[in-house]
Amino acid sequence: MSTLPQRVFSGVQSSGNLHLGNYLGAITRFVELQKNFDCLYCVVDLHAITVPQDPLSLRANTRKAAATFIACGIDPKKNIVFNQSQVAEHAELAWILNCVARIGWLNRMTQFKEKAGKDRENASIGLYDYPVLMAADILIYRATHVPVGEDQKQHLELARDIAQKFNNDFAASIARNGFGESFFPVPEPLIAGPATRVMSLRDGAKKMSKSDISDYSRINLADDADQIAQKIKKAKTDPDALPSDEKGLEGRPEADNLVGIFAALAGRTKADVLGEYGGANFSAFKNALIDLSVAKLAPITSEMRRLTQDETYVDGVLRDGAERARVLARANMNAVKDIVGLLR
Ligand code: TYM
Repeated sequence: MSTLPQRVFSGVQSSGNLHLGNYLGAITRFVELQKNFDCLYCVVDLHAITVPQDPLSLRANTRKAAATFIACGIDPKKNIVFNQSQVAEHAELAWILNCVARIGWLNRMTQFKEKAGKDRENASIGLYDYPVLMAADILIYRATHVPVGEDQKQHLELARDIAQKFNNDFAASIARNGFGESFFPVPEPLIAGPATRVMSLRDGAKKMSKSDISDYSRINLADDADQIAQKIKKAKTDPDALPSDEKGLEGRPEADNLVGIFAALAGRTKADVLGEYGGANFSAFKNALIDLSVAKLAPITSEMRRLTQDETYVDGVLRDGAERARVLARANMNAVKDIVGLLR
């Protein structure tokens, strides 16, 4: 089997403000993983344009997302932090993988169905093809581990299927070119912790999302302490006190969500949080959650603001990251061309 180094890749879209779901489901994991892995963290601006974007806001949002990574504790010297469109090999490999992926596989993608809605005929081809570009993002670096929130699980399974099909379809050529039995590692999703799926604060059955029309449904990383307090105070709950064990959260999605958020922010388990707050009413628990959220998020928000104003610095980080990413991507793209039989 492969003796490739373990390598982490993950991406975050550059559209709109990042929220607590992105932070707890993905970015906090990125920060942990940098201790033990070589990591690439990417602002996926090519994914963002699968739905219409205003060019000026897109550029600003790409910088904002990169500033957020850094403000959350990702070290851009130790890791490669960059935006997708600066490394052309992502799109180049996506084309090759388009010829490997099957229409039937893409037709099963639930996120496309949700995003395209009823007006499917009018959705962009990019929106449909989005998961193949995502597979290319990962595979162009032959990444082995991909930290994501629960909502990206199906896309990750597709990336695994594409990697395996490429390895099978081109097995003879892969061996002939000296890569042994397989070229792409089958990437492992890393989906773990108490907040892999942070739900809307207004409706425990809906995912916290930047596209929800109600700003009260989410905590944005750009929110100030007052906004955070207001949103948590207004968060939907049920009339009962908090249970003292996790089983008691069953059938109580809003309570489960708030306890999960608390646990993830505090770096504790839900069971541990319930051990402390079991029997408490929501107003007491919400006050504790407000204090904890503000303590954790306020330093990030102020660092984000500072970095967002320093365009030269952020652009420099992205340019440097793209240069380093390109070296890895180019070598792998050349190998893919040799394997597939494209002259170079
Ligand atoms: P995006 O930009 O929608 O979300 C970025 C990351 O945040 C996670 N996330 C959540 N986690 C928990 N609860 C939530 N409510 C929540 N909302 C979002 C997402 O799971 C994700 O990890 N397609 C991806 C970006 C991407 C990518 C990649 C990821 C492009 N290429 C390659 C991994 C590897 C996306 O749109 O994520």
